[in-house]
Amino acid sequence: MNNAKFPIHPWKITEIGFNPQHLAENESVFALANGYLGFRGNLEEDAPTGTRSIKGTYINGVYDTAPILYGESAYAFAKNSQTISHVAETKGFTIKADGEHVTFSQSLTNHVRELDLYTGILTRTFSYKTKKGGSIKVQIERLVSQENKHLAAMRLKITGISGGCDVEVTSGVYKPEFEIAKSDDPRTATGKDMNMILTTSGTFKPHYGAYTVLATKSSGMSVAAAITHQVTNAKATPTGESAWTFKGNTSQEIIVEKFATYYSGESKNFDAKQCRDEALSAADTQSYDTFAAQQKTFYKNFWDEVGMDIVGDDATLQGLRFNMFHLLQSTGQDGRTNIAAKGLTGSGYEGHYFWDTEIYVLPFMLHSSPQIAKALLMYRYSILDQARVRAKELGHDKGALYPWRTIGGEECSAYYAAGTAQYHINADIAYAIASYVRFTNDTEFLCNYGTEMLLETARLWYSLGFFNTEKGGKFCINHVTGPDEYNAVVNNNVYTNLMARENMLSAIRTLNDLQAKDPQKYTALKNKTNLSEEEIQDWDNASEAMYLPYRPDTQIFPQDEGFLDRKPMPIKDIPKENFPLLLHYHPLVIYRHNVCKQADLVLAMVLLGDYFTMEQKRENFHFYDAVTTHDSTLSKAVFSILASEIGEHQKAYDYFMFTARLDLDNTHKNTKDGLHMANMAGTWLCLVQGFAGMRCYGNTLSFAPHLPQGWESYTFNMHFQGRTIKVYVDKSGSKFSLVRGESIEILVDGKSITVHSQQ
Ligand code: BGC
Repeated sequence: MNNAKFPIHPWKITEIGFNPQHLAENESVFALANGYLGFRGNLEEDAPTGTRSIKGTYINGVYDTAPILYGESAYAFAKNSQTISHVAETKGFTIKADGEHVTFSQSLTNHVRELDLYTGILTRTFSYKTKKGGSIKVQIERLVSQENKHLAAMRLKITGISGGCDVEVTSGVYKPEFEIAKSDDPRTATGKDMNMILTTSGTFKPHYGAYTVLATKSSGMSVAAAITHQVTNAKATPTGESAWTFKGNTSQEIIVEKFATYYSGESKNFDAKQCRDEALSAADTQSYDTFAAQQKTFYKNFWDEVGMDIVGDDATLQGLRFNMFHLLQSTGQDGRTNIAAKGLTGSGYEGHYFWDTEIYVLPFMLHSSPQIAKALLMYRYSILDQARVRAKELGHDKGALYPWRTIGGEECSAYYAAGTAQYHINADIAYAIASYVRFTNDTEFLCNYGTEMLLETARLWYSLGFFNTEKGGKFCINHVTGPDEYNAVVNNNVYTNLMARENMLSAIRTLNDLQAKDPQKYTALKNKTNLSEEEIQDWDNASEAMYLPYRPDTQIFPQDEGFLDRKPMPIKDIPKENFPLLLHYHPLVIYRHNVCKQADLVLAMVLLGDYFTMEQKRENFHFYDAVTTHDSTLSKAVFSILASEIGEHQKAYDYFMFTARLDLDNTHKNTKDGLHMANMAGTWLCLVQGFAGMRCYGNTLSFAPHLPQGWESYTFNMHFQGRTIKVYVDKSGSKFSLVRGESIEILVDGKSITVHSQQ
């Protein structure tokens, strides 16, 4: 499984030596971020000639727009693209030794790069020998501060200077330049102009400061970046527009600490002063060591809180921790931003936010950092008005339709069949709201924000579907695409219909509760949204009459009404090189066949497990297992979870193993464009919902734990209604204890037990 690109270690990802072939994918692997600011793991110096490198520094929520150019447009197609911008680069250092640019060559030896997941710090060391016979040792550390979201800190140390070697270091803040390359792969952001325009730049004296202000071309956003330095044993001179050069005294070690700050805002009233002030204050009052110490404390707390460990399988543990680390790094936490499909690690999928958030990432946050789960939902609330407008554009007189892919809130999907048609995003958001409230009891959120979103999304389903006389008056939802993008624009996708039903029922329950508990708020919301009692009754009727295609003889739920009428496409007969199918067949060819890209019905069975019998779960798992290519990385985790539930432990483990190290081992072959956030969260879900069998139906928390073969034990913490519950599973069985909070009754393998409070 492990191709040994990185030695197995429970906390560290270490690159020994340098393999130019892996450069771009390792830039994703070694990315550092804090939910706001993201640095790809680029080398400090320019990448060696002939290697493929993708420079990237991102600010969550900063993007540019451009009109989508359709060969043939149609009414209400998404108008503009939004593409994550590449903001100023500050992570670079140019080192010259005896006048030679220090870069990969035969002169550079002992190269090691190490990401310490326990501390959040990236370190790089190497030695360099010049042609004149001089030599140096270089150590560079980098962190993107979790405590101060606007700050990154770096420290460059040059030691062991011998042979009279002349050393100088240049450090600056630069506007990045990109060529607009084109690709047929819809998963990349190539073909999109991510360059910003330079507004101002310059240097300032105290602490060898420099700054750059860049603006997007048309979205009206600006980003300022400033740097300051603390320098030991070197003489500084300003260099060019926005850099400084530090020249050492031969043989004395040189230390350059660099503090970089970033601020973003609307171009029209943008003031870069705060950015410069903060960079100055970092250099004035702090040192790299203080920021490093803060970072270590922050990550220690995070790891203590999630409390996850596996004994007996370090390779998998490394994969899981790596995944959790990156999820935390990439998730927006301010209620105005979200998590992109590739996080802040690359510009794949243009930096867009998808349903990946609510169905994959949010549950991980819910169980480890519930306040971040709330922030993700607050982002959806912040774009509710745009969703209302979008619903109208799509012909719905009421309700809200959330965009399939977006950053700023408007629909950006240019291919409606696998985009806008995925109306299930509405129900996914509603599902996440209900889970969040169930797991946190945050009624304040529900009253003030959640209910309104539930109501507007419920409305949309009623407007979209209809009571179909051809189907005995059942409520049908036609011409939508479910999660599986290889069966597009279909009728009565079971996942969509069931989730829509759940959405309407949640809205009814929540409104009834609100009316009973806070009649004033209820009336205010009714007035604000113009809601009538008849509407609530309509949702009830529609839920009751929801049409779900089903074959009682085989117990198979066709993924959508027409699924079983499509031509078979046995996966085993497809040549290996034709995967993923989306890059080798016209969509129509795919749509005509009985083949799935990803979990769809199987996902419904995981999310709404109490709707199905165990027998149905078994039959459908095997049926869909045979027709799913897993061309999407969102698929295997879901199959693993259901496999665990139906007792197919080997399958569960095999699927899980595909997810656990997918980006570390680059098994999906596109890690260079960014890490696969949904899959990363999926791994954790395999552990918690799969191996430990955690479910919450109604208000009852239940587990059905088993231990994968070869493991000694595993453990994790999860939050539930103000408690932190520690789950521990080993060969002798499972143990549950409370880290904090009140005693609770849970079900373990169907039997009720009380987990007692420690207080
Ligand atoms: C999947 C979608 C997913 C998107 C972004 C696509 O390949 O089919 O379900 O939302 O990737 O991760």
